[in-house]
Amino acid sequence: MDKLQQLHDNRQKIMEGGGSSRIAKQHESGKMTARERINLLLDAGTFVELDAFVKHRCTNFDMADLEAPGEGVVTGHGKIGGRQVFVFSQDFTVIGGSLGEMHAKKICKVLDLAVKVGAPVIGINDSGGARIQEAVDALAGYGDIFYRNTLASGVVPQISVIMGPCAGGAVYSPGLTDFIFMVDKTSNMFITGPQVIKAVTGEEVTSEALGGASTHNTVSGVAHFMGANENETIDMIRKLVSFLPSNNLDNAPRVSVGDSRDRFCEALNTIIPDNPNKAYDMKDVIREVVDNNDFFEVQPLYATNFITGFGRIDGHTVGILANQPKSMAGCLDINASDKSSRFISFCDSFNIPMVTFVDVPGFLPGSQQEYGGIIRHGAKMLYAYSEATAPKITVITRKAYGGAYLAMCSKHLGADSVFAWPSAEIAVMGPDGAANIIFRKEIAEASDPQAARAQKIAEYTEQFATPYQAAARGYVDDVIEPSHTRRFIANSIEMLGTKRETHPPKKHGNFPV
Ligand code: HXC
Repeated sequence: MDKLQQLHDNRQKIMEGGGSSRIAKQHESGKMTARERINLLLDAGTFVELDAFVKHRCTNFDMADLEAPGEGVVTGHGKIGGRQVFVFSQDFTVIGGSLGEMHAKKICKVLDLAVKVGAPVIGINDSGGARIQEAVDALAGYGDIFYRNTLASGVVPQISVIMGPCAGGAVYSPGLTDFIFMVDKTSNMFITGPQVIKAVTGEEVTSEALGGASTHNTVSGVAHFMGANENETIDMIRKLVSFLPSNNLDNAPRVSVGDSRDRFCEALNTIIPDNPNKAYDMKDVIREVVDNNDFFEVQPLYATNFITGFGRIDGHTVGILANQPKSMAGCLDINASDKSSRFISFCDSFNIPMVTFVDVPGFLPGSQQEYGGIIRHGAKMLYAYSEATAPKITVITRKAYGGAYLAMCSKHLGADSVFAWPSAEIAVMGPDGAANIIFRKEIAEASDPQAARAQKIAEYTEQFATPYQAAARGYVDDVIEPSHTRRFIANSIEMLGTKRETHPPKKHGNFPV
């Protein structure tokens, strides 16, 4: 009985983490504790804790006497929507959630188990970084985590959640994972903090401006999702997990929501404006097509000229990629190339079919883009689509010009199904630019150059700015009525259900970076 009592007492102490005053401080700053976060994230009553009794073995700086309940991180497994996931949640109330040797070993154990059983890992970060007293043992711990994050990449989905500080080399574990969630105003990530920056360069910047959720969701593109608070962020994580397969050998769960696969999308027949230079919202197209109009956007605030996200068609998870005519006319630029190629690579790793909607006038011209390396960034997109063997379905709604036509999952990069709407314009360039080049002499010599120019543009538009030249070569499988788009995509997904495609054996390709 004494032993049982001792077990209960020991466990109770661990449950209390850093104690009531540190927990109160955590709550005052709008943050939950590590355990509260896990309990909210997982289906009620499913959390199974591991390694609660792990202790550090550091004796530097009087650490021998320092109790660190749970070693500053709560780890284990549980369920989301009835499906197995692994979690670790750093406990800021215990030595600032700092990471030492044994803290890292707890995290490594769940990463190893997740890979063995094929289940997603969700890591909640709230930490002062490497535990300074543990010196190189702390660094070794981070290295062991980075190594496992890398080996787990493409085997199980890895999700990082930043719910407090995440500084220094610590940012590279989230950076190696598939998705990063941040909480507005209470989380930040940076390699070097404001004090170091001030000392080294003299620049003055706040933590929030340097590495807050807003910065990483809009400016750097490091984060993929921003929640207004921890509750909202956790709801978003649960939603993301619902779309994903558990591992690279499993299919995503098929979720039937009673939306007929043959539903006509009448609104799509009139969505393209008569004026080709007028914008429309591509998200309206996407929402019309997916089951129950439910589109879960990834990186909604970054590179808004390109849309990425998840939805379902006939119950199957699909990754959706699209140009957004409403933002920079849907041009492809450096940030859009990075955003899209990372998403393509994720979808392909987990064999999630990709549906690409195309309305692209071209790559963004300008010296800033060239100096920034649009050539190597744009190459990522070509590489990622070409390398992807998951089902690839493309719908060209309007413009598909030049290199951007090719880059947007054309038949030439291995698209399995390509459909074009009658409004599609598939050509080397737009009618204005083309007429100026190929009819320059005729226009210059005409008695009324302006009328001649208009006439040549009209001729070019009629003959080339259509889907029929591409359809005549078989680069487009069919020209379809826009309202039938959902049915055509559903048919393709079904047809491609047994798709097998292999590429020449190699160690790995040299992905452009
Ligand atoms: C040991 C740490 C710690 C750390 C915080 N604590 N960070 N202990 N190692 N890295 C302890 C504090 O001493 C304090 O203990 C408790 O955690 C809470 O911290 P506070 O400072 O009171 O909290 P707050 O005011 O909210 O400030 C949070 C903070 C600050 C901004 C994170 O603690 C901070 O700047 N910490 C150091 C961050 C840092 O430089 N880390 C190393 C980064 S480099 P008591 O007992 O007083 O409650 C790195 C390299 C990784 O991580 C390399 C990987 C390759």
